[in-house]
Amino acid sequence: MKRHNPPSVPAPPTLDRRAFIRATAQATALSALTAAPFVARGRVLGANDTVGVGFIGVGGRGRSHIGTVQRLVAAGEKVRLVAVCDAYRYRLEEAAKLTGAKAYGRHQELLADPAVDVVCVATPDRLHVPQALDALRAGKDVYCEKPMGHWSQFNISKQLCTETRRLNRIVQIGNQGNSSPAWRQVNELVQQGAIGRIQQVQAGFYRDGDWGERMPIPDPEAKPGPDLDWEAFLGDAPKVPFTVDRFFSWRKYLDYAGGPCTDLFPHVFTPFVSALGLKFPALAVASGGIFKYTTYDREVPDTFNMCLDYPEKLSIVLTCTLTNEYATEPVIRGDEGTLTLQNPADWTSGFDSVTVIPRRGAKKVIPGQRIDATYAHWQNFLACVRTRAQPVSDVAFGFHVQTALNMALLGFLQRKVARFDPASEAIVL
Ligand SMILES: NC(=O)c1ccc[n+]([C@@H]2O[C@H](COP(=O)([O-])OP(=O)(O)OC[C@H]3O[C@@H](n4cnc5c(N)ncnc54)[C@H](O)[C@@H]3O)[C@@H](O)[C@H]2O)c1
Repeated sequence: MKRHNPPSVPAPPTLDRRAFIRATAQATALSALTAAPFVARGRVLGANDTVGVGFIGVGGRGRSHIGTVQRLVAAGEKVRLVAVCDAYRYRLEEAAKLTGAKAYGRHQELLADPAVDVVCVATPDRLHVPQALDALRAGKDVYCEKPMGHWSQFNISKQLCTETRRLNRIVQIGNQGNSSPAWRQVNELVQQGAIGRIQQVQAGFYRDGDWGERMPIPDPEAKPGPDLDWEAFLGDAPKVPFTVDRFFSWRKYLDYAGGPCTDLFPHVFTPFVSALGLKFPALAVASGGIFKYTTYDREVPDTFNMCLDYPEKLSIVLTCTLTNEYATEPVIRGDEGTLTLQNPADWTSGFDSVTVIPRRGAKKVIPGQRIDATYAHWQNFLACVRTRAQPVSDVAFGFHVQTALNMALLGFLQRKVARFDPASEAIVL
C-alpha cells in the first residue's frame, strides 16, 4: 500500500428553536460554573473530569475535527483525544501519530474502550446513523457529522431520535452554522417581527467544479485486506465489488451520498430551519440532474433545485449548481418587508451583514458576525455533555432537517412530489 497521504417508533421530541438557543447559552454558561456530575460511559463522573474523545473516520473532516479538539485542549478545555478509528490503515496510522491516541480498525472496538466518553462520527454519510446508534448503546455521547443520515435511511434516522431520548444521551449533529451568532441575529429579527410573517426564503449554493465529489484517490492500487476494510465501508449499502473510486470518491455514488441536496444544502438550509423555528415540511418537489459532469461514472446530480412548503404557509426555495460560483443574495421575504444576507460564503461561519428592507421606512444594514463555527459547535457539545442540556443541533432538530432533505431527494429520484404525513411521521411518495 502506498503511504499518502423501526419502522414504528414514537414521535421524536419537537422542541422550540428559541428554547434551543436559550438552552445553548445556558449550557455554555453552566459548564464553566457548575460542578454538577455528568453521565458518561454509563456511570456518573465529576464535572471536572476530562472528557475522552474518540474519532470514528479520520479522513478530511475527521482530521479537521482532531485539529479543532486539539485547539480546545490548548485553550484549557478539559478534553482529551483518546482514540481514533478508520477503515483505511494509512489514515488511521497518520491520525494515531498526530494525536498519540489509541488506534482501532473497527468502530466497535473503539466503542468498547472505557476511556472514550464521546465520539465524533466523520465517516461517509451512510455510516453516520448506524455508528451513532452503536455509540449511544455503548453509553457514549455523539458529535455526528452532517448529513445526519443517508437519504435511504429515514427509518433508522428516526430510531436515532428515539434511542437518544431513551438512553438519555447527547447528540450534536454537525450543522455547525447553527452555532454562528450571525444566525441568532436573523432569528431575533424574525422574532421581533422586523419583516412581519415570513412567506418565502430563497437561497442557494454555487460552486465552480466537481472536486467535492471527485475526491482524490491517494492509492490507485489499494485493495481490500488488512489495510482497507471494504466490508466496514459498505455497512448497510448494497454489497458490490470493491473499486478505489467507490472507496475514496464515495460522494459520486448514490449508494453512499446524495449530491448537493444532502452534502451542500445542510449548510444552507439548516440555519433557516433554525432561525424560523420550522419542523417538518408538508411537501417537497425537486428538479435537476447531471447537466455538466456527464463524462464519468458520476451518479449524483450536479444541479439540484428544491422547493419545500411548510405547514406554517411558507416556502423555502434552494438552488445549487456546480457550473460556476456566481451567487445571488439569500432573501427572506415577509409581509412587512425583506431580509437579505450579504456574503454568506461557506454558509457556516456567518455573513458580513444583514439588511432589513421594511415595506415602509428606511432600510437598515446590520453588521453580521463571523466565527469559527465548528469550534463553537464543539464547545456547545462539550458543555451539553457536562450539563445534559440539549445542544443547538440536537437529534430532533437534525431529524427535521434530514427529513426535508430526504423528501426532496426521494422525490427527485422518483420524479414525484413527496409529502409528509405528520400523524404517522412518514414520507409519502
Ligand atoms: N460539517 C462540515 O462542514 C463538513 C465538512 C466536510 C465533510 N463533512 C462530512 O464529514 C463526513 C466525512 O467526509 P470527508 O470529506 O472527511 O470524507 P473522507 O472520505 O475524507 O473521510 C471519511 C473517512 O472515513 C473512513 N471510513 C470509511 N468507512 C469507515 C468505517 N466503517 N469505520 C471507520 N472509518 C471509515 C474512510 O477511510 C475515510 O478516511 C461526510 O459525511 C461529510 O458530509 C462535513
